[in-house]
Amino acid sequence: MRAYDDITELIGDTPLLRLDAAVHGIERLRLFAKLESHNPFGSVKDRAAWGMIRDDLPELRGRGFLEASSGNTAKALRVLGARHGIGLRAVTNRIKVDEVRDTLRLLGTEIVELPGLSECPDPTAPDDVAAVIAATMAREPGKWYHASQYTNERNVEAHYRGTGREIRDALAGSGIDRVDYVIGGLGTTGSTRGTATALAEHNPGLRTVGVVSARGDFIPGIRSETEMWDVGLFQPDFYHRIVAVAAEHAVSATLLLAHRYGVLAGPTSGAAYAAALDVLRPAAAGLRPGDPDLVAVLIVCDRLEPYLSYLRARRPELFDDPSRPAPPHPAELAAVPRLTPEHLDELDRARRITVVDTRGAMAYRVAHIPGSINLRDDLLGGFTPDQLPFCRSRPLVFVCPVGRVSQHFAALTRRAGYDAYSLAGGIAAWRDAGLPLERRR
Ligand SMILES: Cc1ncc(COP(=O)(O)O)c(C=O)c1O
Repeated sequence: MRAYDDITELIGDTPLLRLDAAVHGIERLRLFAKLESHNPFGSVKDRAAWGMIRDDLPELRGRGFLEASSGNTAKALRVLGARHGIGLRAVTNRIKVDEVRDTLRLLGTEIVELPGLSECPDPTAPDDVAAVIAATMAREPGKWYHASQYTNERNVEAHYRGTGREIRDALAGSGIDRVDYVIGGLGTTGSTRGTATALAEHNPGLRTVGVVSARGDFIPGIRSETEMWDVGLFQPDFYHRIVAVAAEHAVSATLLLAHRYGVLAGPTSGAAYAAALDVLRPAAAGLRPGDPDLVAVLIVCDRLEPYLSYLRARRPELFDDPSRPAPPHPAELAAVPRLTPEHLDELDRARRITVVDTRGAMAYRVAHIPGSINLRDDLLGGFTPDQLPFCRSRPLVFVCPVGRVSQHFAALTRRAGYDAYSLAGGIAAWRDAGLPLERRR
């Protein structure tokens, strides 16, 4: 042990923890967790942020960081920059987790929140994140430094030189000379790509599993598969599998990591654990008698505590908060009447109904069902049953990207006594049926 001279010396060299086989229950698997949550600002992004700016720092005085980030990268950039008088303007679709926004504000980050386009990216739109950053840089040349985590190879390199090498060294210390699987969430893809590239040098057969959120679901810190296309660093062929995890499974696995292993990790780590078991259970079962046991490492990206409001919204019963409705049971979801686009169109012509579009404002603005109102899923989720702002005498139809989120809200409002429906297949099905869409300028 020694005393450190500078906080940046504490970035990296995070612990590798073997996850007890008695808990995961998979024979012939040695599963490890790389605890990136031990970085000084709390996440895997500390390495990427430091790796992207450290060489340029001496020349950056007087300028400001401008970055697309809604959380961990912004936090690390802000703290690293503040010590050198460099501010941060974080541009983001929307920060959906209150604690994350509050922490950034507390640290002095300037946050530019755009309407939210997660389901419907449109780089040509004037309020797309990339477009706003490009316009800001052009308007004020020389004022901003854009590290550009989604395209900067130094993000990948930070994990190639650090995370991957550290895993190899830690395993070598335990007499293990190869890794068969790396599993991690996909945001920029820097951590999975850098780590796996380093480890593949010692085992060319290494397989990388990328973890995304299920379509229409939200897990803070990672993207859904459809949102990966605008990540410049993303190389689809790099991944052996890309596994989509539903938010509810990520939350359950997050709680399991805490209760059974003592790992206080955020929901993307829960998602990575759930995906790891899905992939590794059949892989371990398929081993032949002489094969060596599988060695797998999952990346624990950050800590549990910044996500209390996210967890409260999904598991209110754990917080002893009876005013918040518990999520619908499978039977309640199954009981929701699902309208085809044609049925919704007929119903809309026949009588007065309320159509509620639960997508982000940008997606709504680009294309929505004529006459529908826009109430984002996270706002809707904040209402208690007696606060719901809908007319009880009219049928209520929820609309979302593909019909899952809408089913959730239809089930909850039916429980509260509304005559509620879900549009089957979501806005995509409405569009495919050739029915009219409205655009708001
Ligand atoms: C909590 C969390 N998990 C996972 C990731 C994914 O990491 P990467 O950007 O290296 O793909 C991020 C990225 O921001 C994150 O914040």
